[in-house]
Amino acid sequence: MKTALITGASGGIGEALASKLASRKHNLVLIARNEEKLAQLCQQLSTQFGIQAQYIVADLAKPEAAQQIFRETQTRNLEIETLINNAGIGSGGEFSALPLQGELAMLQLNNSSLVAMTHYFLPQMQKRKSGTVINVASMAAFMPVPYMAVYAASKVFVRSFTEAITQECKPHNIHVMLLCPGLTKTNFNQAAGIENQKGKALTEGASLQTPDQVADELMNGLEQKKHVVISGGSNRMGAKLTALIPNSLIAKRMAASYRQKMTDY
Ligand SMILES: NC(=O)c1ccc[n+]([C@@H]2O[C@H](COP(=O)([O-])OP(=O)(O)OC[C@H]3O[C@@H](n4cnc5c(N)ncnc54)[C@H](OP(=O)(O)O)[C@@H]3O)[C@@H](O)[C@H]2O)c1
Repeated sequence: MKTALITGASGGIGEALASKLASRKHNLVLIARNEEKLAQLCQQLSTQFGIQAQYIVADLAKPEAAQQIFRETQTRNLEIETLINNAGIGSGGEFSALPLQGELAMLQLNNSSLVAMTHYFLPQMQKRKSGTVINVASMAAFMPVPYMAVYAASKVFVRSFTEAITQECKPHNIHVMLLCPGLTKTNFNQAAGIENQKGKALTEGASLQTPDQVADELMNGLEQKKHVVISGGSNRMGAKLTALIPNSLIAKRMAASYRQKMTDY
């Protein structure tokens, strides 16, 4: 059976993806920090779908985590057919006021660990001449986002990196896909520390998808061998529109809107 490794699988979009893949008879290796949640999910998915589900507890905000995960999969003799780099965190507020350590840890998780995971697992796929890599970015990958400046920049990185390796991987028969969710009902805002009144202004008034909807769109995209999946019709429209407007103008408008909303609180 095929084995899929999903980072950030203890909740939100990652958990929904784990469930969809399990229902399609993929064995799973789930990664996150919350061991209790991972153990529970593995138990539930293996009972419900008759697959093998196992987990590795790791903190991908630490530079050594990706190598430790790779070595552990080797020790367990696992062949990873599908790698989903989904774990990510956000932050919101004026850049200069946000703690630097948190911003740097976010870059380690959203970017450096994603690159490291991809680098460790690609050679096995190249050797087998088969495999799938899915990197989770965001609608923020299409524009600068004032008051979420580092988060949005981290997702621009994910988009650029993924679109580049999509082409590099084609001769090796490895399918690479970029997933760009829009606002989704998960623990994301809470984890990003933007649950307070001012933080809410950053996401106010937007329509949200469920993790299940996002996961369904990804599965459809996989079946159609797409390389980019933007989940949600309004998000797809938004991505097309933002491509027509200069980034400087988008940033100016968004900054003005956020400042206004934030002073309203
Ligand atoms: N929700 C949205 O509105 C939205 C929109 C666009 C893009 N996204 C992207 O979608 C992806 C998934 O986010 P989500 O919305 O599902 O958020 P979530 O509900 O907060 O889930 C994040 C997952 O990542 C794991 N994680 C966080 N920090 C980690 C670390 N240091 N090491 C290992 N695992 C870690 C969490 O598990 P533990 O806490 O157990 O470690 C959890 O399983 C992220 O890349 C995010 O940027 C989300």
